[in-house]
Amino acid sequence: MGGFAVRDGALHCEAVPLALIAHAAATPAYVYSAGLIRDRFARLDAALAAAPHRIHYSLKANGSRGILELLRAAGCAVDVVSGGELYKALRAGFTPDEILFGGVGKTEGELREAIAAGVKLINVESEAELRLVSRLAADLGAVANVGLRVNPEVDVKSGHQYIATGERGHKFGIPIGDAASAGRLAIALPNVSLQALDMHVGSQLSSFDAFREGTARLVELSMELRAAGADIRYLDAGGGLPVPYDAEEEPDLAAYGAIVTAAANTLGVELLVEPGRFFVAASGVLLTRVLYCKESGAKAYVICDAGMTELLRPSHYDAFHRIEAVSPRAGAGAVTVDVVGPVCESGDFLALDRELPGVEPGDLLAVHTAGAYGYVMSSQYNARPRVAEVLVDGTRWAVVTARETYEDLVRHEIPVPQWREA
Ligand code: LLP
Repeated sequence: MGGFAVRDGALHCEAVPLALIAHAAATPAYVYSAGLIRDRFARLDAALAAAPHRIHYSLKANGSRGILELLRAAGCAVDVVSGGELYKALRAGFTPDEILFGGVGKTEGELREAIAAGVKLINVESEAELRLVSRLAADLGAVANVGLRVNPEVDVKSGHQYIATGERGHKFGIPIGDAASAGRLAIALPNVSLQALDMHVGSQLSSFDAFREGTARLVELSMELRAAGADIRYLDAGGGLPVPYDAEEEPDLAAYGAIVTAAANTLGVELLVEPGRFFVAASGVLLTRVLYCKESGAKAYVICDAGMTELLRPSHYDAFHRIEAVSPRAGAGAVTVDVVGPVCESGDFLALDRELPGVEPGDLLAVHTAGAYGYVMSSQYNARPRVAEVLVDGTRWAVVTARETYEDLVRHEIPVPQWREA
């Protein structure tokens, strides 16, 4: 099964010492456990066994080619939200009928690509988008299979206000009160086939009530639209399964499974789910090296070679990520420190007021639960090349995304601009 554990005084990913990876591949680096990802996929798959279902991994959480390929090999499908993600999914070997295409602001170009590819479903978020999809499909001589992403307007208990998406007034989806008429429009339009109702109410959901209430609303609406002539074949319950970042419990998969499978079974349709974080968050660490330790005022700082450019979540969401020394020093007493990066911003931190066993320059730290929304949200700010991604599988490990070079920082520069007259 793998995962991260201390063996012989040193933190390992599966059977590989993290220090070995840091030595050979340098830091900072993201390190992922293939065994953990496979295990989490199998556990969720089993929890949904009561209904015909397909798991569409939300690629936005971590689009690493190595991870996409291992999930695909395990039987997972995929959910994408941009033309770029569609491109990456197809390149990683997913077939169009394994791809859901969503997103609140799809461009004409992106929709054309999705229709031309023949994706399983385009999850549409407004009447204007429905009309556009029908027109573009007509141009391409196609009928596009669509789902309606509905905002069920439920009470959402998510990890942060930025990641709640299913409450009244949010920008996502079709407001529940307008969904029936959008559904009738979809039935009437010649080049779309309405096959699903979809929701995604938020991420890191600490209560399953929003799943229960939201899917109940989708079931009711599906019945109404069936009576109006729609051939509803799928219920898409979105993503949102939480993971423990600190001392929280793992989510009760059986309870979650019971809620979403019951909804699909009421309709006699295939259940679709779009988890992202659940598979990859705890399956990855950000490996970073301590550069300096210093004091300023009453504060002690541990300055690392990774910061907000590599892992934005602490500074963007005030997110907590557990930090562990890869090779703890014997007898080192605990101290309270800010763990910060090298970026020229006071908001550049990995942890504030954190109790850590004494560390020294040169030490390696593992920032835990960093596999989801880590690398994908990284940037080149301060002209910092993006870091490497490493996949570990048992005793083997491989770099699956190369560290960027300085050359990568300038490859789109046009040194001699081709000026044009207006
Ligand atoms: N489906 C849709 C339509 C979504 O918008 C999302 C996530 C998912 C599925 C997957 O949700 P998950 O199972 O991972 O909760 N950057 C934030 C999270 C943003 C989530 C956006 N949508 C973070 O670092 O917490």
